[in-house]
Amino acid sequence: MFKINDNYLKLPGSYLFSTIAKKVNEFSNANPDKKIIRLGIGDVTQPLAPAIIESLHKAVDEMGKAETFHGYAPDLGYEFLRTTIQKNDYEARGCDIQADEIFVSDGAKSDSANIQEIFSIDNKIAVCDPVYPVYVDSNVMAGRTGTYDPATERWSEVIYMPCTADNNFAPEFPTENPDLIYLCFPNNPTGSMVTKEQLQAWVDYANKIGAIIIYDAAYEAYISEENVPHTIYECAGARTCAIELKSFSKNAGFTGTRLGYAVVPKDIKSNGVTLHSLWARRHGTKYNGAPYIIQRAGEAVYSEAGKAQLKQQVAYYMNNAKVILEGLKKAGYEVYGGVNAPYIWLRTPNQMTSWEFFDYLLENANVVGTPGSGFGPSGEGYFRLTAFGNYENTVEAVERIVKL
Ligand SMILES: Cc1ncc(COP(=O)(O)O)c(C=O)c1O
Repeated sequence: MFKINDNYLKLPGSYLFSTIAKKVNEFSNANPDKKIIRLGIGDVTQPLAPAIIESLHKAVDEMGKAETFHGYAPDLGYEFLRTTIQKNDYEARGCDIQADEIFVSDGAKSDSANIQEIFSIDNKIAVCDPVYPVYVDSNVMAGRTGTYDPATERWSEVIYMPCTADNNFAPEFPTENPDLIYLCFPNNPTGSMVTKEQLQAWVDYANKIGAIIIYDAAYEAYISEENVPHTIYECAGARTCAIELKSFSKNAGFTGTRLGYAVVPKDIKSNGVTLHSLWARRHGTKYNGAPYIIQRAGEAVYSEAGKAQLKQQVAYYMNNAKVILEGLKKAGYEVYGGVNAPYIWLRTPNQMTSWEFFDYLLENANVVGTPGSGFGPSGEGYFRLTAFGNYENTVEAVERIVKL
């Protein structure tokens, strides 16, 4: 008789965004005349840049001719893309990462969920609280997180690092030593960033205690300040303790096109075995590579035209962020983020819970955001708005909120 992986049964409640969608549907069915503005889900709204479309068309045409047709992609990604990434994202920043340490994938969600597979089940994970839910849930499915306490909304075997206004949304070293540390900067959901010195301290800490940092830099393109690391490999010693995950979703609008990569330096070893060899084995066995046409589209992200067009696209979203940030500040809200990230994190007014504010905003301003508590207990009393909407809707949403 077969048995299921009952770790799945431990996962609490329904997924945050399904709950939001349900509430929004109910409201819109009851109020069909109301125009709802969605600043909830972190999905992009601008079309793919012309340089990317051009590259896609060309690659599609290649697939239609026997001489230029491409079948299975190399497991770890096409050389042309890995080399382009290596040159632009690492060499240009003075970071020692080689092309064969870059593993092309279909995005950072899968990589951040899959990476835990190459570690022993005994490893203890540490996560920021609030956090992008995939890091924890994928470890729950693997059976690494112990039992869930609905009262505290915490897993017994997970180390939580609260990130609140009190510590400027930057995690502090936990009292108990973790084995795997998930960090995400620029941060989803708080929109916060750490300085190079702060990240260096994490790298030193990880090397000292023999931990691995899984560094999710999906929002790197939104960094606007100086002295802020664009990659963890700007920090000395990161080659022996850090895996970096990147995505083409937010910098280039690939949320529906799907492309990302993971960097696993060959210097990370456990008893003489490299993590690189394990991830290569995992990739080779379980993944048949991102499509050729998509990898060509990814290459175009780094072309001169692509870079110029995407700079404008990021600026468009960051202008939305500014509109939200300044509008809400003027209206007396306590707001964070929005400077190095496309997320604005605000404190709910009048001691409302995150979900109370969600309902209040939906009913009174017809604006949808994301309750902070959905990202973890320390997110309670906070609320996330995204800058990924279009400009006109963003302006209107802010006007409506300000009028409340
Ligand atoms: C922190 C973080 N990592 C990864 C992802 C997913 O990226 P991708 O679209 O490449 O799977 C998201 C998406 O919202 C995210 O917020």
